[in-house]
Amino acid sequence: MLLRTRYLSLDPYVRGRMSDAKSYAAPMEIGDVIVGGTVSEVVESAADGFAPGDTVLSYGGWQEYSLESAGHLRLLDPAAAPVTTALGVLGMPGFTAYAGLLAIGKPQPGETVAVAAATGPVGSAVGQIAKIHGARAIGIAGGEQKVSRLRALGFDAALDRRAPDLAGRLAEAAPDGIDVYFENVGGPVWGTPYCPSSTSSRGYRCADWPPTTTRPRCPRAPIAAGSSWAPCWPRASPCAASSSSSSRPRCSRTSCRT
Ligand SMILES: NC(=O)c1ccc[n+]([C@@H]2O[C@H](COP(=O)([O-])OP(=O)(O)OC[C@H]3O[C@@H](n4cnc5c(N)ncnc54)[C@H](OP(=O)(O)O)[C@@H]3O)[C@@H](O)[C@H]2O)c1
Repeated sequence: MLLRTRYLSLDPYVRGRMSDAKSYAAPMEIGDVIVGGTVSEVVESAADGFAPGDTVLSYGGWQEYSLESAGHLRLLDPAAAPVTTALGVLGMPGFTAYAGLLAIGKPQPGETVAVAAATGPVGSAVGQIAKIHGARAIGIAGGEQKVSRLRALGFDAALDRRAPDLAGRLAEAAPDGIDVYFENVGGPVWGTPYCPSSTSSRGYRCADWPPTTTRPRCPRAPIAAGSSWAPCWPRASPCAASSSSSSRPRCSRTSCRT
Protein backbone atom coordinates (compact mmCIF):
# COMPACT_ATOMS: atom_id res chain seq x y z
CA MET A 1 0.00 0.00 0.00
CA LEU A 2 1.17 3.52 -0.73
CA LEU A 3 0.65 5.90 2.19
CA ARG A 4 0.99 9.64 2.52
CA THR A 5 2.13 10.82 5.92
CA ARG A 6 -0.20 13.31 7.59
CA TYR A 7 1.19 13.35 11.14
CA LEU A 8 4.33 11.86 12.55
CA SER A 9 5.46 11.30 16.09
CA LEU A 10 8.80 12.25 17.61
CA ASP A 11 9.20 9.89 20.56
CA PRO A 12 11.98 9.78 23.17
CA TYR A 13 13.06 6.28 22.11
CA VAL A 14 14.43 7.77 18.86
CA ARG A 15 17.36 9.07 20.90
CA GLY A 16 18.24 5.48 21.78
CA ARG A 17 17.98 4.37 18.15
CA MET A 18 20.58 6.99 17.26
CA SER A 19 23.12 5.18 19.41
CA ASP A 20 24.66 1.75 19.05
CA ALA A 21 24.60 1.22 22.81
CA LYS A 22 23.08 -2.10 23.83
CA SER A 23 19.32 -1.83 23.64
CA TYR A 24 16.12 -3.77 23.12
CA ALA A 25 16.04 -2.58 19.49
CA ALA A 26 18.61 -2.37 16.71
CA PRO A 27 20.02 1.12 16.12
CA MET A 28 19.33 3.07 12.96
CA GLU A 29 22.06 3.01 10.36
CA ILE A 30 23.39 6.09 8.60
CA GLY A 31 20.98 6.88 5.77
CA ASP A 32 18.02 5.06 7.30
CA VAL A 33 14.66 6.78 7.49
CA ILE A 34 14.20 8.06 11.06
CA VAL A 35 11.81 5.67 12.80
CA GLY A 36 8.48 6.85 14.10
CA GLY A 37 4.78 6.23 14.24
CA THR A 38 2.68 8.06 11.68
CA VAL A 39 -0.93 8.79 10.93
CA SER A 40 -1.15 8.37 7.19
CA GLU A 41 -3.64 8.50 4.37
CA VAL A 42 -4.00 5.54 2.03
CA VAL A 43 -3.13 6.67 -1.52
CA GLU A 44 -3.14 3.30 -3.26
CA SER A 45 -4.23 -0.05 -1.88
CA ALA A 46 -4.28 -3.61 -3.14
CA ALA A 47 -5.25 -4.92 0.31
CA ASP A 48 -8.71 -5.95 1.46
CA GLY A 49 -10.22 -3.60 4.01
CA PHE A 50 -8.18 -0.53 3.04
CA ALA A 51 -9.26 1.97 0.40
CA PRO A 52 -7.76 5.21 -0.89
CA GLY A 53 -8.69 8.03 1.48
CA ASP A 54 -8.67 5.80 4.59
CA THR A 55 -6.63 6.97 7.56
CA VAL A 56 -4.30 4.47 9.18
CA LEU A 57 -1.82 4.25 12.01
CA SER A 58 1.47 3.23 10.46
CA TYR A 59 5.12 3.03 11.29
CA GLY A 60 6.45 4.60 8.13
CA GLY A 61 8.90 6.94 9.81
CA TRP A 62 9.87 10.44 8.91
CA GLN A 63 9.10 10.56 5.22
CA GLU A 64 6.30 12.00 3.14
CA TYR A 65 5.29 8.70 1.53
CA SER A 66 5.84 5.10 2.57
CA LEU A 67 5.09 1.60 1.32
CA GLU A 68 3.51 -0.67 3.93
CA SER A 69 1.79 -4.02 4.03
CA ALA A 70 -1.68 -4.15 5.53
CA GLY A 71 -0.60 -6.34 8.46
CA HIS A 72 1.39 -3.44 9.89
CA LEU A 73 -1.47 -0.96 9.82
CA ARG A 74 -4.40 -0.07 12.04
CA LEU A 75 -7.44 1.48 10.38
CA LEU A 76 -8.51 4.65 12.21
CA ASP A 77 -12.03 5.97 12.56
CA PRO A 78 -11.91 9.79 12.45
CA ALA A 79 -15.44 9.88 13.86
CA ALA A 80 -14.39 7.99 16.99
CA ALA A 81 -11.60 10.36 18.07
CA PRO A 82 -9.20 12.85 16.49
CA VAL A 83 -6.81 10.74 14.43
CA THR A 84 -3.79 12.31 16.14
CA THR A 85 -4.76 10.51 19.37
CA ALA A 86 -3.51 7.32 17.70
CA LEU A 87 -0.01 8.68 18.31
CA GLY A 88 -0.80 9.71 21.87
CA VAL A 89 -3.41 8.78 24.40
CA LEU A 90 -5.06 6.11 22.20
CA GLY A 91 -1.75 4.80 20.92
CA MET A 92 1.56 3.50 22.16
CA PRO A 93 2.17 6.17 24.86
CA GLY A 94 -1.34 5.87 26.28
CA PHE A 95 -1.18 2.09 26.34
CA THR A 96 2.22 2.29 28.02
CA ALA A 97 0.74 4.40 30.79
CA TYR A 98 -2.35 2.21 31.08
CA ALA A 99 -0.50 -1.10 31.21
CA GLY A 100 2.42 0.08 33.32
CA LEU A 101 0.26 1.72 35.94
CA LEU A 102 -2.63 -0.71 36.16
CA ALA A 103 -0.90 -4.05 35.50
CA ILE A 104 2.24 -3.31 37.51
CA GLY A 105 1.72 -0.26 39.73
CA LYS A 106 -1.85 -1.23 40.67
CA PRO A 107 -2.71 2.00 42.53
CA GLN A 108 -5.34 1.65 45.22
CA PRO A 109 -7.81 4.32 46.38
CA GLY A 110 -6.09 6.69 48.77
CA GLU A 111 -2.58 5.73 47.68
CA THR A 112 -0.09 8.24 46.30
CA VAL A 113 1.27 7.88 42.78
CA ALA A 114 4.22 9.97 41.56
CA VAL A 115 5.29 10.27 37.94
CA ALA A 116 8.14 12.09 36.18
CA ALA A 117 7.95 13.75 32.74
CA ALA A 118 4.37 14.18 33.82
CA THR A 119 3.14 16.46 31.06
CA GLY A 120 4.22 14.07 28.31
CA PRO A 121 1.81 11.64 26.70
CA VAL A 122 2.81 8.81 29.04
CA GLY A 123 3.09 10.81 32.26
CA SER A 124 -0.08 12.85 31.79
CA ALA A 125 -2.05 9.65 31.21
CA VAL A 126 -0.46 8.01 34.26
CA GLY A 127 -1.58 10.88 36.49
CA GLN A 128 -5.09 10.97 35.13
CA ILE A 129 -5.54 7.19 35.32
CA ALA A 130 -4.27 7.28 38.91
CA LYS A 131 -6.92 9.89 39.73
CA ILE A 132 -9.64 7.82 38.07
CA HIS A 133 -8.62 4.96 40.36
CA GLY A 134 -8.92 7.12 43.47
CA ALA A 135 -5.23 7.71 44.08
CA ARG A 136 -3.43 11.00 44.72
CA ALA A 137 -1.28 12.03 41.78
CA ILE A 138 2.00 13.93 42.06
CA GLY A 139 3.51 15.13 38.79
CA ILE A 140 7.13 16.17 38.25
CA ALA A 141 7.96 18.21 35.16
CA GLY A 142 10.43 20.76 33.88
CA GLY A 143 9.41 24.40 34.17
CA GLU A 144 6.59 26.56 35.52
CA GLN A 145 4.50 26.32 32.37
CA LYS A 146 4.43 22.56 32.64
CA VAL A 147 3.66 22.77 36.36
CA SER A 148 0.61 24.90 35.54
CA ARG A 149 -0.43 22.36 32.95
CA LEU A 150 -0.24 19.59 35.55
CA ARG A 151 -2.54 21.55 37.86
CA ALA A 152 -4.99 22.03 35.00
CA LEU A 153 -4.92 18.28 34.38
CA GLY A 154 -5.99 17.68 37.99
CA PHE A 155 -2.72 16.51 39.57
CA ASP A 156 -2.89 16.95 43.34
CA ALA A 157 0.67 18.26 43.47
CA ALA A 158 2.91 19.52 40.69
CA LEU A 159 6.65 19.97 41.12
CA ASP A 160 9.22 21.65 38.90
CA ARG A 161 12.25 19.37 38.64
CA ARG A 162 14.45 22.37 37.83
CA ALA A 163 13.66 24.22 41.07
CA PRO A 164 16.00 23.60 44.02
CA ASP A 165 15.40 20.93 46.64
CA LEU A 166 13.21 18.58 44.66
CA ALA A 167 13.52 15.92 47.34
CA GLY A 168 12.36 18.28 50.08
CA ARG A 169 9.40 19.47 48.05
CA LEU A 170 8.51 15.92 47.18
CA ALA A 171 8.57 14.96 50.84
CA GLU A 172 6.18 17.85 51.54
CA ALA A 173 3.87 16.81 48.72
CA ALA A 174 3.80 13.21 49.93
CA PRO A 175 4.00 13.37 53.73
CA ASP A 176 2.86 9.76 54.03
CA GLY A 177 5.22 8.53 51.33
CA ILE A 178 4.84 7.43 47.74
CA ASP A 179 3.12 4.14 47.09
CA VAL A 180 3.70 3.92 43.35
CA TYR A 181 6.48 5.66 41.45
CA PHE A 182 6.28 5.61 37.62
CA GLU A 183 9.77 6.38 36.38
CA ASN A 184 9.70 8.07 33.00
CA VAL A 185 13.04 9.77 32.64
CA GLY A 186 16.19 8.54 34.36
CA GLY A 187 18.83 11.07 35.31
CA PRO A 188 18.62 13.37 38.31
CA VAL A 189 14.89 12.94 38.88
CA TRP A 190 15.33 9.20 39.12
CA GLY A 191 18.14 9.65 41.61
CA THR A 192 16.14 11.82 43.97
CA PRO A 193 15.81 10.24 47.40
CA TYR A 194 12.14 9.53 47.67
CA CYS A 195 10.95 8.67 51.12
CA PRO A 196 7.99 6.34 51.05
CA SER A 197 6.79 5.38 54.49
CA SER A 198 5.68 1.99 53.34
CA THR A 199 8.17 -0.74 52.52
CA SER A 200 5.60 -2.13 50.09
CA SER A 201 6.02 0.83 47.74
CA ARG A 202 6.04 -0.13 44.09
CA GLY A 203 7.85 1.33 41.12
CA TYR A 204 7.62 0.96 37.38
CA ARG A 205 10.60 1.98 35.35
CA CYS A 206 9.44 3.00 31.91
CA ALA A 207 12.56 4.79 30.78
CA ASP A 208 16.29 4.62 31.03
CA TRP A 209 17.76 7.91 30.04
CA PRO A 210 20.59 8.67 30.27
CA PRO A 211 21.21 4.93 30.03
CA THR A 212 24.25 4.49 32.23
CA THR A 213 25.76 7.67 33.53
CA THR A 214 23.36 8.74 36.23
CA ARG A 215 21.89 5.52 37.48
CA PRO A 216 21.12 6.09 41.15
CA ARG A 217 22.73 4.10 43.88
CA CYS A 218 19.48 2.43 44.61
CA PRO A 219 18.36 -0.10 43.60
CA ARG A 220 21.68 -1.79 42.91
CA ALA A 221 20.31 -4.78 41.12
CA PRO A 222 19.96 -4.35 37.35
CA ILE A 223 16.45 -3.78 36.15
CA ALA A 224 15.10 -4.53 32.72
CA ALA A 225 13.42 -1.55 31.06
CA GLY A 226 9.69 -1.90 31.14
CA SER A 227 9.86 -4.32 34.03
CA SER A 228 8.54 -3.90 37.51
CA TRP A 229 10.80 -3.37 40.45
CA ALA A 230 10.43 -2.78 44.11
CA PRO A 231 12.26 0.38 45.12
CA CYS A 232 14.73 -0.33 47.84
CA TRP A 233 14.49 2.82 49.82
CA PRO A 234 16.01 2.24 53.23
CA ARG A 235 13.64 0.87 55.79
CA ALA A 236 15.02 2.59 58.82
CA SER A 237 17.26 5.48 57.92
CA PRO A 238 15.43 8.78 57.52
CA CYS A 239 15.65 10.11 54.00
CA ALA A 240 17.50 13.37 53.75
CA ALA A 241 15.33 16.16 52.40
CA SER A 242 18.07 17.29 50.11
CA SER A 243 18.84 16.78 46.48
CA SER A 244 22.60 16.81 46.98
CA SER A 245 24.09 13.48 46.09
CA SER A 246 26.26 13.42 49.22
CA SER A 247 23.20 13.27 51.45
CA ARG A 248 21.28 10.70 49.48
CA PRO A 249 20.45 7.67 51.54
CA ARG A 250 22.15 4.47 50.58
CA CYS A 251 20.26 1.24 50.39
CA SER A 252 21.32 -1.76 52.25
CA ARG A 253 21.32 -4.71 49.91
CA THR A 254 19.01 -6.58 52.26
CA SER A 255 16.22 -4.08 51.73
CA CYS A 256 16.28 -4.48 47.95
CA ARG A 257 13.90 -6.70 46.12
CA THR A 258 13.70 -7.14 42.38
N1 LIG B 1 8.86 0.96 27.89
C1 LIG B 1 8.05 1.31 26.89
O1 LIG B 1 7.47 0.48 26.20
C2 LIG B 1 7.82 2.77 26.62
C3 LIG B 1 6.80 3.19 25.78
C4 LIG B 1 6.57 4.55 25.61
C5 LIG B 1 7.39 5.46 26.23
N2 LIG B 1 8.42 5.03 27.00
C6 LIG B 1 9.29 5.98 27.69
O2 LIG B 1 8.47 6.70 28.59
C7 LIG B 1 9.00 8.00 28.77
C8 LIG B 1 7.91 9.03 28.54
O3 LIG B 1 7.52 9.01 27.19
P1 LIG B 1 6.77 10.27 26.57
O4 LIG B 1 6.53 9.98 25.14
O5 LIG B 1 5.61 10.64 27.44
O6 LIG B 1 7.94 11.36 26.73
P2 LIG B 1 7.87 12.95 26.69
O7 LIG B 1 7.25 13.42 27.94
O8 LIG B 1 7.29 13.43 25.43
O9 LIG B 1 9.41 13.39 26.64
C9 LIG B 1 10.31 13.08 27.60
C10 LIG B 1 10.34 14.13 28.75
O10 LIG B 1 11.39 13.75 29.64
C11 LIG B 1 11.85 14.89 30.26
N3 LIG B 1 13.29 14.95 30.06
C12 LIG B 1 13.98 14.94 28.94
N4 LIG B 1 15.30 15.01 29.16
C13 LIG B 1 15.45 15.07 30.46
C14 LIG B 1 16.56 15.16 31.31
N5 LIG B 1 17.81 15.20 30.84
N6 LIG B 1 16.35 15.16 32.61
C15 LIG B 1 15.09 15.08 33.09
N7 LIG B 1 14.01 14.99 32.33
C16 LIG B 1 14.18 15.01 31.02
C17 LIG B 1 11.23 16.10 29.64
O11 LIG B 1 10.10 16.48 30.43
P3 LIG B 1 10.26 17.50 31.66
O12 LIG B 1 11.17 18.59 31.21
O13 LIG B 1 8.87 17.96 31.91
O14 LIG B 1 10.83 16.73 32.82
C18 LIG B 1 10.72 15.54 28.33
O15 LIG B 1 9.65 16.30 27.85
C19 LIG B 1 10.16 8.13 27.78
O16 LIG B 1 11.38 7.92 28.46
C20 LIG B 1 9.89 7.02 26.78
O17 LIG B 1 11.07 6.58 26.17
C21 LIG B 1 8.64 3.71 27.22
